[in-house]
Amino acid sequence: MKTYKIAAIPGDGIGTEVVDAGVEVLKALAKRDGSFTFHFDHYDWGGEYYKKHDRMMPEDGRDQIKNHDAILFGAAGHPDIPDHITLWGLRLAICQPFDQYANVRPTRILPGITSPLRSVSGPELDWVIVRENSEGEYAGVGGRVHQGLPEEAATDVSLMTRAGVTRIMRFAFKLAQSRPRKLLTVVTKSNAQRHAMVMWDEIANQVAKEFPDVTWDKMLVDAMTMRMTLKPQTLDTIVATNLHADILSDLAAALAGSLGIAPTANLNPERNFPSMFEPIHGSAFDIMGKGVANPVGTFWSAVMMLEHLGEKGAAARLMKAVERVTADHALHTPDLGGKANTRKVTDAVIAAIDADNN
Ligand code: IPM
Ligand code: MG
Repeated sequence: MKTYKIAAIPGDGIGTEVVDAGVEVLKALAKRDGSFTFHFDHYDWGGEYYKKHDRMMPEDGRDQIKNHDAILFGAAGHPDIPDHITLWGLRLAICQPFDQYANVRPTRILPGITSPLRSVSGPELDWVIVRENSEGEYAGVGGRVHQGLPEEAATDVSLMTRAGVTRIMRFAFKLAQSRPRKLLTVVTKSNAQRHAMVMWDEIANQVAKEFPDVTWDKMLVDAMTMRMTLKPQTLDTIVATNLHADILSDLAAALAGSLGIAPTANLNPERNFPSMFEPIHGSAFDIMGKGVANPVGTFWSAVMMLEHLGEKGAAARLMKAVERVTADHALHTPDLGGKANTRKVTDAVIAAIDADNN
C-alpha cells in the first residue's frame, strides 16, 4: 500500500488548530479509501520556536522535509515578532528554496455560503488565481541605509526574470487550457511600471502562441478589482505577479464569502521539491485558542494536496464532504456568521466522508 509522507508545520496562532483538524480528516479519508495511508511528521517551527532558538526553523530544517511527499502548513505570524521575520524565516524560507513558484488559489462560492455580491451565486464565480510565487515584488531585493537618520533611504525592488515570467505564464495557460472555459486573464500594470511589467506583457504574448485554444485578455490590476466585483462571471483563470495576486486573492476570498474558506497550493510543478498546501487566512491571533477557527480552508488545501499526489478520487470525496458541510448553516463557524466550532465542523466532515458510498 502506498504511504505518503507528509510534513505538518502548523506554525503560529490558529495554524495548530486547523492543521490538527486537517490531519484528522486526511487520516479518516485514507481509512475510508483503503488504498493509501499517510505518515505525518510534525514540526513545531514558528514564533514559539523563534523565542527559544532565535530562528523560525532549524538550520537544517529544509533537509528534514525535502524528501517528504508534501507539506501541510498552517500559518506564520506572531504578535510578539515582526511580520517580516516570521514570513521570511519560515514560509518564504520554504517556498523560495523549494522553488514553489506557482501559487494556486481557487475561489468558488461553496454551497450554503453567501457572497457579499448581490445576486451572485455559485456558477457565476469560479476562478483560479495563479500567483507568481518566487520573484517580483517578493524577491527580497533592496536595502536600507542611514537607518533612523533624516537621509535614510530604502528600496524594495521588484525583480522579474524572463525565465521566471515564462514559466508562470506557461503554467497559467496550461491550467486555463485544462478548465472547461479555456479562458485566461493576465493581470498587469504596464502603464505605470514601464520595465518589468512591459516584459511581463511581452512574454504573455509570446507564451499565448503556444496555446491557440486558450482565449486570453489583459487587464490592469486596478481595473481588475472592478471587474472582479462587477462582472465576476467574465473571469476564469487569472495570472498575476506576486503582490498583485496577493491582493486580488484576498478580494476573491471575500467575494466568495470568507477568508476562512480560501485554500492555496505552493507548487513546484517539476516535483524536484515537495509542494506546500495551506489555508490563506493566516494566524488570526484574535481567535486563537478558542476552538472556533474555520478548518474549511485547510480541508480545501488538503483537497489540492490530494490532487497533487494523484489521489483524484480521494480529493473529490473530500471536496464533496466539505460542500455537504458548508451547505448546512448549523455547521458554519463565526467567520461565516455561524456558531459552530472547529471540532463540530471537523466531525461533520469526517461523518460525511464515512457516509459517502461511492
Ligand atoms: C498570503 C499572505 C502572505 C503573503 C502574508 C502572510 C505575508 O497574505 O499568503 O497571501 O502576502 O504572501
Ligand atoms: Mg495575502
